[in-house]
Amino acid sequence: MINISLKRFAWLVHPLALLPLALLAVDTALDNLSVNFIQDITERTGIPALVLLVLSIACTPLNTVFGWKWAVALRKPLGLYAFLYVCLHLLTFTALDYGLDWGAIATEVGEKRYILVGTAAFLLLVPLALTSNKAAMRRLGKNWKRLHLLVYAIVPLAVLHYLWLSKDPRPALLFGAATGVLLLLRLPVLRRAFSALRKPGASVDRQKTDTAM
Ligand code: HEM
Repeated sequence: MINISLKRFAWLVHPLALLPLALLAVDTALDNLSVNFIQDITERTGIPALVLLVLSIACTPLNTVFGWKWAVALRKPLGLYAFLYVCLHLLTFTALDYGLDWGAIATEVGEKRYILVGTAAFLLLVPLALTSNKAAMRRLGKNWKRLHLLVYAIVPLAVLHYLWLSKDPRPALLFGAATGVLLLLRLPVLRRAFSALRKPGASVDRQKTDTAM
C-alpha cells in the first residue's frame, strides 16, 4: 500500500535534487551570498553532493528491507545529480578559489589529506558517471556491475573528506553511521533475512522444501 503511494512521488527526486542548485543560483543572482562566497558555494555544493551520494546507496537497501523495487531506479539519477554537485564543488575549488593555478592545486592535494580523499572520491566517480548509460551497460556486460560497485568505496571516501575537514565531527559521523548501516544491508545474509521477513510464506515454503529434501 505504502509502496504504491510512495512510487507515485518518485519523480520528485528531480526537482528535489535540483533545489539546492536553484536556491544557490537565486542567492548568487540576488547577491545574497556572504563576503566569503567561495566558502558558501563550496558548502552548498558539497553537502548536496554527499547527501545525494548517500541516498544513491540507500536505494538497494530500501528494496531489500521494504521491497520498494521502484527505489532501485532512482539510483542512477541520484548518482548523476551527486556527480553534478561534485563537479560544481570541484570547479569552485579549482577555478574560483585557486584561479586554475594547477601548481598550487597539486600542492593542496598533496598537503591536505581531506583534499586528497575528496579528489580520490571524485576520480572514482568519473567512470561511473561516464558509464551510466545503456550503451555502456551493454558494452561492459558483467563488468558494468563490478565497476559500479566502486560507489561503495566512493561514499566512505566522501564521508572521510567531510570528517577530516570539519571542526565538529558529529554531522560527518552521522553520515558515516548511515553509510555503515547501508553497506551492512548489502550483506547477503541480511538481504536473505529481510527477503524472508517480507515474504513469510516464501520462507515457510522454503523450510518445508528443505525439510522434505
Ligand atoms: C565526492 C566528492 C566530494 C564530496 C561529496 C565533498 C563534500 C564536501 C562537504 C560535505 C564539504 C563540507 C561543506 C561544509 O559544510 O563546509 C566539503 C568541503 C570542501 N571540499 Fe569537498 N567534497 C568532495 C570532493 C572534493 C574535492 C575533489 C575537492 C578539491 C579538490 C574538495 C574540496 C573541498 C574544500 C576546499 C572544502 C572546504 C573546506 C573548508 O571549509 O575549509 N572536495 N566537501
